[in-house]
Amino acid sequence: MSKPADPGITNMSETQPLSDSHSDAAEPAVKLSCKHVWKVFGKDVQSLFTADGHFDQMALDGGEYISAVSDASFDVYEGEIFVIMGLSGSGKSTLLRCMTRLIEPSAGEIFFESQDLMKASESELIDLRRHKMGMVFQHFALLPNRTVLGNVALPLEVQGISRGLREQRALEVIELVGLDGRERYYPRELSGGQQQRVGIARSLAAEPDVWFLDEPFSALDPLIRREMQDEFMRLQNVLHKSIIFITHDFEEAIRLADRIAIMKDGAIIQIGTPEQLVLNPATDYVEEFTQGIPRAKVLSVEALMRDVDDDEFSGVVQAGAAIETQLDMILNADRGAVFAVHNEHAETIGALTREVVVDLLATTPRKS
Ligand SMILES: Nc1ncnc2c1ncn2[C@@H]1O[C@H](COP(=O)(O)OP(=O)(O)O)[C@@H](O)[C@H]1O
Ligand SMILES: [Mg+2]
Repeated sequence: MSKPADPGITNMSETQPLSDSHSDAAEPAVKLSCKHVWKVFGKDVQSLFTADGHFDQMALDGGEYISAVSDASFDVYEGEIFVIMGLSGSGKSTLLRCMTRLIEPSAGEIFFESQDLMKASESELIDLRRHKMGMVFQHFALLPNRTVLGNVALPLEVQGISRGLREQRALEVIELVGLDGRERYYPRELSGGQQQRVGIARSLAAEPDVWFLDEPFSALDPLIRREMQDEFMRLQNVLHKSIIFITHDFEEAIRLADRIAIMKDGAIIQIGTPEQLVLNPATDYVEEFTQGIPRAKVLSVEALMRDVDDDEFSGVVQAGAAIETQLDMILNADRGAVFAVHNEHAETIGALTREVVVDLLATTPRKS
């Protein structure tokens, strides 16, 4: 028998953030929280778990069960993009479905804001999904016989909102995702990227609090995928949703995430900012993903600065900026140049040498 789950936590503000990246700001609110969530497929699964959160590891390892999700615990903060990254079959979709209880978890607790989802009735769950959760899937799942407008307005129709109002709202989100002028098109008349824009608009029509996206761009060509990622970031800069975004593509995770959870064989093996994963991969498995990632893209000035030491500065760089965004200035400076590192209050908190940046570029592994 393994360790018991946390005792039930009712006050979500008491949970500790897993990342220290927020430490200088007020602690952000937790929007969604998973505690020791399991989804095991097999016969008589409930007998593996006791009510106090213990589970039978021996039986689980015995070969008769598939642990699609193993003991997953994490918090998603208000307004963050929380990316769950893992290879195909690692349990990402199952975990996402557990979070909305579209799949019934075998064990564990899930809190949405402070509501205990495991105690919610089916009708409460339907209500939550309709009003507070937006979902986008890899295969766009549009209704072929409905126009763009009809597809996007559907979630509002389900809510019983009058035609005039729902179409007005649908037109707003259609414009938001850049599809204005195509309201009367049918899905078959649109490209893959445009169809996924419809899927995105539909998921936003009901103004969800939490936005779940399960590999939304994985079916698209690389160039279109890039464009959709940019579009997604633009939308998030406007909307500030709490987002759970699933991908099997580490580069996509790095581009989009505030924090990334790496999944392997059903378990979350590390949670951190892109920078934390690249600097301190918890296992060889995580390190392998980070190999091809250009360090200058991910590392901040702060990660590379040293203490100030009788320096003469050639300029100023911001502590939170990615090295990549400062490269021109740093590389154009004289050999031996040192830059003052400023925090958001324009106080000097360290020094960045040109040398350490040049070293970083020289040691960044090549992409295979
Ligand atoms: N209904 C099911 N019955 C049995 N095994 C399942 C079921 N659904 C998923 N699995 C298994 O759970 C694991 C995780 O699947 P999934 O969550 O779809 O992974 P991902 O989304 O990361 O590709 C896989 O091994 C898959 O075969
Ligand atoms: Mg999946």
